[in-house]
Amino acid sequence: TQAPAHLKRLVLTGFMGAGKSTIGRLLAARIGWNFLDLDAHLEARTNATIPQLFEQQGEARFRRLESTALASALGYSNIVLALGGGTPEDLTNRLLLEQTPATFTIFLDAPFPTLFDRCMLQDIARPVLEDPAAAQLRFERRHPLYRRMAALTIPTADQTPAQTVEALLLAL
Ligand code: S3P
Repeated sequence: TQAPAHLKRLVLTGFMGAGKSTIGRLLAARIGWNFLDLDAHLEARTNATIPQLFEQQGEARFRRLESTALASALGYSNIVLALGGGTPEDLTNRLLLEQTPATFTIFLDAPFPTLFDRCMLQDIARPVLEDPAAAQLRFERRHPLYRRMAALTIPTADQTPAQTVEALLLAL
């Protein structure tokens, strides 16, 4: 399968636990593109882990580092890029994604309890999940942003990652 010829970047957005990294990796393999995870890109660039960055720099500074990592990531072609769950909260990031040519953004959608349960089964340190009530508020605040910034919304709650990839390829 090939990605549509006019596209150079497929971007996956959504909350933590949406499947951005899992689905992104499968999708990239399916179309023969590279996969790039924004969190991993940021960690490699700063030589620090996400929890370290939150702890040492605070969330505001973390977000600025995330923005520069995003600008760097969007310099690549033929990539599937998984954003961080909070990347779209920054207007600069949304504009950057919107204004980068040949870039198509997909929202992986699921209800908060599903996302939260998935995250609890994962062994990933996520500072933003330490307080579940606050995480739910973040989800509610972000949900309309995810929807609006994406050209396509794909529900993931009742599908395996492989099924989501097929649905996504059909809808592109
Ligand atoms: C965050 C999501 C994380 C990571 C950081 C903050 C958030 O990315 O960027 O822990 O604010 O939702 P994932 O969605 O890849 O877990």
